[in-house]
Amino acid sequence: MTKILLTGGAGYIGSHTYLALIQSGFEVVILDNFSNSKSDVPRRLQDISGKMVYCFNGDVLDRTDLDNVFAAHKIDGVVHFAAKKAVSESVVKPLDYMHNNIGGLLNLLAAMDAADVRNIVFSSSATVYGDTDVQPIPEDHPRTYTSPYAFTKIAGEQILEQLPNTWVVGILRYFNPAGAHKSAMIGEDSEDIPNNLLPYIAKVAVGELAELVVFGDDYDTPDGTGVRDYIHVEDLADGHVLSLKSLLETGESHTVNLGTGEGSSVLDVVAAYSEACGKDLAHTIAPRRDGDVAVLTGLPEQAKARLGFEAKRSLGDMCKSSWAWVSGQRRNKR
Ligand code: NAD
Ligand code: UD1
Repeated sequence: MTKILLTGGAGYIGSHTYLALIQSGFEVVILDNFSNSKSDVPRRLQDISGKMVYCFNGDVLDRTDLDNVFAAHKIDGVVHFAAKKAVSESVVKPLDYMHNNIGGLLNLLAAMDAADVRNIVFSSSATVYGDTDVQPIPEDHPRTYTSPYAFTKIAGEQILEQLPNTWVVGILRYFNPAGAHKSAMIGEDSEDIPNNLLPYIAKVAVGELAELVVFGDDYDTPDGTGVRDYIHVEDLADGHVLSLKSLLETGESHTVNLGTGEGSSVLDVVAAYSEACGKDLAHTIAPRRDGDVAVLTGLPEQAKARLGFEAKRSLGDMCKSSWAWVSGQRRNKR
């Protein structure tokens, strides 16, 4: 059986990808330092999948941790999720971001090379496109960074592009991941006040935050609020399965957007979430957030042509699954 290592596999996207891979017949090993995930995620993954979870509490910055995993398991390919991801924090702590995200990737590649494992899928982001009027964005659009976080993603892509052709690399540029697993047992989980729209609205819906602050209603968009390409995290997870299958079966590298190609405004999301949770969600309009762009949507054609990937789930599905997850968590906390 093909065995895949997920670095950062206990995180939001990694945990959903774990389940999609298990369902597709892969064996999966997780390495995570739990710096941004809860220690009960492996148990939850075990409960959902009904299979024993192999999880190492380790750090991609620690070469011994990596060598131990490769010695204990015959790994065929790696999906590298482990990274810090908060754009605003990266502006305050650029060195931490470069150390963890770039240093972690270099350490992982060296350990993979030593273990003769040269198939890797890398979590990149639509943030590599910067601020552009070209919408939806094709993969050959020039890269430019608007934050230290974005810099680490571009640097990661460039490092992977320097590898000799004995390596097979899948670079996946995610647009805006949203929603939760159908089991409602895993999802995006943050104790802090979220920066991103969906987790923020979710906290308004459960009553932990009073209202959503809409950052700007004077953009050149149909209703004046920012437009994004939201993609269900389970669709994203399926994209990783297809990316790995493509790498392992064809031996050819790819760089693709993972999005839907469709844009939704902030007010569209508020309406869809209100319908999902059955109540009107309070929101006020505030000035634009620094660094925000009006529209960010990705051309999905390459993912379809190269991987056979197409997002299947709607914005309503994202909101319903998010609501099932957060309202269930809320009930458990009581
Ligand atoms: P997440 O924070 O939920 O998951 C990342 C996981 O990596 C966490 O479990 C964390 O504990 C772990 N981790 C971090 N540093 C580590 C280290 N040094 N060693 C071992 N484990 C470490 O984030 P996510 O939303 O699941 O994102 C996964 C990947 O996708 C990241 O690379 C992120 O930059 C990228 N990405 C995310 C989004 C998004 O909106 N969520 C969008 C585009 C790209
Ligand atoms: C952010 C990151 C980006 C990352 C993406 C997905 C920034 C500048 N960019 O992008 O690098 O790839 O998340 O993780 O942080 N909004 C509100 N009120 C809120 C929160 C958001 O109105 O409280 C609006 C924003 O102005 C935007 C939309 O909702 O129009 C989506 O915001 P968000 O979820 O933060 O994602 P991005 O801005 O696309």
